[in-house]
Amino acid sequence: MTEEWREATTMNRLWGAIKDCHRCPLGETRTNVVLGAGNESAEIMFVGEAPGFHEDKQGIPFVGPAGQFLDQLLRSIGLDRGQVYIANTLKCRPPDNRDPLPEELATCTPFLFKQIEIIRPRIICTLGNHATRTLLGTTTGITQLHGKLVRKKGLAYVPLFHPAAALHKPPLKSVLIGDFQLLRENLDSERARWREERENPPETPVEEDAQPEQMGLF
Ligand code: URA
Repeated sequence: MTEEWREATTMNRLWGAIKDCHRCPLGETRTNVVLGAGNESAEIMFVGEAPGFHEDKQGIPFVGPAGQFLDQLLRSIGLDRGQVYIANTLKCRPPDNRDPLPEELATCTPFLFKQIEIIRPRIICTLGNHATRTLLGTTTGITQLHGKLVRKKGLAYVPLFHPAAALHKPPLKSVLIGDFQLLRENLDSERARWREERENPPETPVEEDAQPEQMGLF
């Protein structure tokens, strides 16, 4: 396995470097590596858990029922897939949709960090507990964290319930719909913050540390 992916500065390059990945056993059972989809210059990035049955077959994230609900949520705040970027913590489907294993996450999340580095989104929405734990390194559950903006290492995160959780537990649907309205407001204030920083740069340089850290997962 080459380490060429480390040098990638575009999603196309990253794709070329990992599309035949066999760094972990999921490489033997998956159909397609599901890198991600959407706009490489997106202001908002969504991170789910791992590809499911439909995603594995098509090579595109969130194309099953949970994805259809995500599309609906995006539309509710005037966005579509062409304006955001959608990825997962794991790029290959775990058999029977089981939870990602720590060693799979340790192997695969560097690709997610690289995607964040390429896109540099204003807000990263973590969908569900797995993505939230992976990116925020927290043990606090999504029930407490959802909807609130969290800053970490120069990046802004908004943890959200996973759309699939809302399909299994219908009362969560209205919670997600409400959290998307808050996300819209958070995006507007992040835009204003960026504009202000661009127009009035701080006199002393802000510590440059936009790289998400690799963290202990459990
Ligand atoms: N669930 C996820 O977490 N990701 C997908 O791509 C599809 C369903």
